[in-house]
Amino acid sequence: MWIVLLIPLSKVDAQELSGYKSKSTEKSLENKMAWWQEARFGMFVHFGLYSVPSGVYNNEIMGRNWYAEWIHMQGNWPDGIPEGEYRKFAKRFDPKSFDADQWIRLAKAAGMKYFLITAKHHDGFALWPTKVSGYNVMDATPFKRDILGELATACKKYDVKLGFYYSHWQDWGHGGAMPKKPSKPGGPKKPKSTLADFDNYWNKICLPQVQELIENYDPHFLWFDTWRRSREITDEKVDELIAHVRRLNDKCLVNSRIAFGYEGIEDKVDYLSMMDNDFPDGYIEKPWETSGTMNRSWGCHQLDYGWKPAGELLRNLVANASRNGNYQLNIGPMADGTFPKPSIKRLKEIGAWMDINGEAIYGARPNPVAEQEWGYITAKGTKKRIRLYLFVFDWDKSGKIKVKELLKIPIKIQVLETGEVLKGINVKDGLEIILPEFRPDHNCTVITVEISK
Ligand code: GLC
Repeated sequence: MWIVLLIPLSKVDAQELSGYKSKSTEKSLENKMAWWQEARFGMFVHFGLYSVPSGVYNNEIMGRNWYAEWIHMQGNWPDGIPEGEYRKFAKRFDPKSFDADQWIRLAKAAGMKYFLITAKHHDGFALWPTKVSGYNVMDATPFKRDILGELATACKKYDVKLGFYYSHWQDWGHGGAMPKKPSKPGGPKKPKSTLADFDNYWNKICLPQVQELIENYDPHFLWFDTWRRSREITDEKVDELIAHVRRLNDKCLVNSRIAFGYEGIEDKVDYLSMMDNDFPDGYIEKPWETSGTMNRSWGCHQLDYGWKPAGELLRNLVANASRNGNYQLNIGPMADGTFPKPSIKRLKEIGAWMDINGEAIYGARPNPVAEQEWGYITAKGTKKRIRLYLFVFDWDKSGKIKVKELLKIPIKIQVLETGEVLKGINVKDGLEIILPEFRPDHNCTVITVEISK
């Protein structure tokens, strides 16, 4: 649905480099989006009661998809897990090894500048001691600690910005919207809330909880979640919720999945959220992000071994940054409160790369020339002097790459990691660069190109 906003990069030719137009960033750096656009990279965490069964219930693996946080509604069994049974996971929710400092340190070491967690997911269970429902970590579990409070303190300590995922539409524990279809063809229909139920939930749970989150923890942003138009989330409700947040804290950012696919929503919110693991293939003017998984599930899934290589995750980050977008990489902590080993390994691999190449991501502007076959580009600098960052993923056998549409004579070309100076030759439709004899980074080598007016 954001296609209309895509600007074909091929139209932005190298001539523009001399009077370098920063597109959206110049304006927005002065406004409340500045930190968000500069950050580019954040952590998303899905943690809740579903982390206890972790994709498996009564020895059966979830059937419909790999989203372990949906286990309550989508099992191999006829009707998911009945509400009463599901609530019993609260008694087993006791993540003794949870350490907020450690989570935030891991995010920071991976080069992430912000942290987003499921304050309340679709099941309706709250990770903070909410006053409007007993279905929360303090009142319903043996753990009895304010998980969000501890994380908010750690975020302050490590200077990481904090955000909350809040499921405003689906709330299976409080009469919010319920899926209508049975899990299995022919299976019994799921209970379906009426519009009156929904209004009741909206006023008694949703609005007060959003208020609590803002007043108690002062988040920098909120991430609401819809994926289609629904009868429950009317235009009036969208406006009401946005106004509610703005009134409580005008600096708190709001994402577009508060009303995914609703006409005109991009003008009401601060940034666009793509669908899950959806990576657009071109520049988008309005600040935007993709949330992505490391394997297939968001919540921890004990049988999901589909881990993506770190190089692929890095490519997602770089591609988004070169197109003016952010990337929120998800972790599904285990029931004991620790991150799965494959997640930690990937965070460390990305962190090692970010340590060296981070300047090419943070605060960088999107690609000012054409999309390239071998990788991606970002840029920094003034009107007089510009530094391009070339992210070379595909190492061509020819030993060269061509930067299409770059017609300027470069002042200096270097490998960011090693400092090795490279040769560039201006050809009629671009700049050819002779790659180093030895490939410095197996995933992505960053080459800097300095250009002056
Ligand atoms: C979808 C899913 C949800 C997940 C989210 C992450 O909305 O319903 O389980 O939290 O995507 O982007």
